[in-house]
Amino acid sequence: MLVAERIAKRYPTPQGPLPILEDVSFSLASGDAAAIMGPSGSGKSTLLYMLGALEPPSSGTLTLNGTNPYTLSETDAAAFRNRHVGFVFQDHCLLPQCSVLENVLAPTLVAHDRTPAEYLDRARTLLAQVGLEPRLTHRPSELSGGEKQRAAIARALVREPTLLLCDEPTGNLDQRNAEMVAELLQSLHASRRLVMVLVTHSAELAGRFPRRWTINGGRLSTSA
Ligand SMILES: Nc1ncnc2c1ncn2[C@@H]1O[C@H](COP(=O)(O)OP(=O)(O)OP(=O)(O)O)[C@@H](O)[C@H]1O
Ligand SMILES: [Mg+2]
Repeated sequence: MLVAERIAKRYPTPQGPLPILEDVSFSLASGDAAAIMGPSGSGKSTLLYMLGALEPPSSGTLTLNGTNPYTLSETDAAAFRNRHVGFVFQDHCLLPQCSVLENVLAPTLVAHDRTPAEYLDRARTLLAQVGLEPRLTHRPSELSGGEKQRAAIARALVREPTLLLCDEPTGNLDQRNAEMVAELLQSLHASRRLVMVLVTHSAELAGRFPRRWTINGGRLSTSA
């Protein structure tokens, strides 16, 4: 369960605090998925970073399964993120020097709730699910844009997160790859009991998810 209560974000700048988001409140239960749309610069990535325990809100509270990550020490917050949050970044952020399989295993290096052999098995299964079985030893520079995005999705899921956050997962893809990634996310949402929040500029992708929000002028509202 992800609960945001009146969260606001202001970035400090030399000209004073720059207001980005005001009074954002919602709650999402496991199995819920919300798509967020809004103009460039409206604060969509900022909101995802706050939800993902990467950027503290200026005010308001956020809890995931009853824990407010911003009350934790830095070490505990890192462990919390690793355990509970899967993040697919706007620009995939794969490690360039590592293979696809190593990238997907990276979040498990600090994890101890399964054995390395179990994680390896899970990474391979996820990579097969996203259609990357024949690309396990490729480095990110040897992948297409859609393949990178699918590897990033597998990496985000390897620890079975409570919360999956996706920042424009189809933004840089052609129609065919965008369709493949959209179908993958939709089937993940249908088959897993996780909370999913996805940012997109595509009305078509947003339309596949049950809850749709728009950010505009610093406010989050429900869209049709
Ligand atoms: N660290 C920062 N300091 C100051 N301003 C920032 C900082 N990070 C982001 N901003 C500003 O906050 C606003 C929201 O940024 P954000 O990245 O959340 O937008 P977005 O909705 O994701 O846009 P896009 O669709 O282009 O990805 C932007 O105007 C940006 O310039
Ligand atoms: Mg963004």
